[in-house]
Amino acid sequence: MSQSVILTDSHNRTQVEMPVIDGAIPAKSLQKLRVTQDGAGLVSYDPGYQNTAPAISSITMIDGMAGKLLYRGYPIEVLAVESNYLEVAFLLNNGELPSTAAAARWREEIQAHATVDPFIVDLIRSFPRDAHPMGILISALGAMGTLYPEAKEVLDSDVRRRQVYRLLGQLPVVAAHIYCHGQGIEAEEPKADDGYIGNFLRMVRNFGLETAEEVPAIRAAMNCLFILHADHEQNCSTTAMRSIGSSHADPYSSMAGAVAALYGPLHGGANEAVLRMLEEIESVDQVEGFLQRVINREALLMGFGHRVYKNMDPRATLIKTLAYSVFEVTGANPKIDLALALEQTALGMEYFQARRLYPNVDFYSGIIYQALGIPADYYTVLFGIARAAGWLAHWQEQLEDPAQKIARPKQIYRGPDERAFVPLEQR
Ligand code: CMC
Repeated sequence: MSQSVILTDSHNRTQVEMPVIDGAIPAKSLQKLRVTQDGAGLVSYDPGYQNTAPAISSITMIDGMAGKLLYRGYPIEVLAVESNYLEVAFLLNNGELPSTAAAARWREEIQAHATVDPFIVDLIRSFPRDAHPMGILISALGAMGTLYPEAKEVLDSDVRRRQVYRLLGQLPVVAAHIYCHGQGIEAEEPKADDGYIGNFLRMVRNFGLETAEEVPAIRAAMNCLFILHADHEQNCSTTAMRSIGSSHADPYSSMAGAVAALYGPLHGGANEAVLRMLEEIESVDQVEGFLQRVINREALLMGFGHRVYKNMDPRATLIKTLAYSVFEVTGANPKIDLALALEQTALGMEYFQARRLYPNVDFYSGIIYQALGIPADYYTVLFGIARAAGWLAHWQEQLEDPAQKIARPKQIYRGPDERAFVPLEQR
């Protein structure tokens, strides 16, 4: 049975019936209700898109109350254990898990498009060594767009597919050069048969880990972390990718914008911010004092809270477990005790309970990265390499959707009415 809602204008008693489709009303139907004397239609006001769906998507499903996350219908808990990152990237971008032959073709195409132009490597090396890796990554992606003029043909699906191969292939290589530049070391040459994560780790020299026990452990951990970070529906950076892509900008430029959004501490930059916060808190006996500052709104508890999850973020649960398996090889990171004390104390406090604030994906990931010897300013780059699969899936989905339009929201204007210009000498 079709469902609709009826909206009544209390001023003149006019009514408008709006269809409810998939739990949503088409926002444009609000315009039928004329609310000003000049006949302007009703608009919705929604800062931060808290209750606005800009897309119909088939990629990722989140049930925030149940703490459930599915990629194309597959639970994240299963993918994290049974799958590998490239297979998940295929799933996100193509809708189904690949056959053996399709997985091999996917791997080969990505590998074949992975060569980074020397100009990009020179660009990375032109930055000061202590420049933030995320700033360099934004620049490198913008520069990559200048190398592939065909990428502007965003409505051509063959062209699009090539850019997906290039971006998935080159992003870890670019990221590896950024890391090596910061460390003042040469990136190791990739090896054809070392796999996607293996090659990235080879290039960055396994972040200094080298024993026969450590190398497989870091590969397994990175594979799991990449899968957990691969997509998260209409998050801030994906919305940036979709917004920029909606103007038919090339995907390199769109992804530079997505990386810029990810960089912010309220989004992907939270993984670095959590580590900085733990360093500031220093010891378990300072936890209560710090949380009191949070309650007094003098600080944020980084790695806590989420727009969609009002229960434990399932990625945080998995990452917390992963931390202990990494520590078996690397030795425990003492920050884990501090993080656990922070989590337990916060979850027992009325402030966090009333607002349904729980650890999110960024709360424990930095502790693993630190145990693996990775510098804090590089954590968000790792998030970005992984999220590229999701950004590209959303970019393609949007371009294939005939209902999509250039992103161009409305505003509520409260500035001055038209007025006369006064020349400088008369002010
Ligand atoms: N510490 C203290 N108070 C918080 C926190 C926090 N981390 N998160 C939310 N709150 C409070 C907030 O002040 C508000 O209180 P009140 O209603 O009394 O004003 C209430 O909880 C609701 O929060 P909100 O800011 O309206 O929620 P939002 O959906 O707009 O923001 C968020 C979501 C993730 C930006 C926010 O929870 C936050 O700033 N968290 C810390 C940064 C962080 O960990 N970000 C990573 C997010 S998950 C992964 C990712 O996207 O990369």
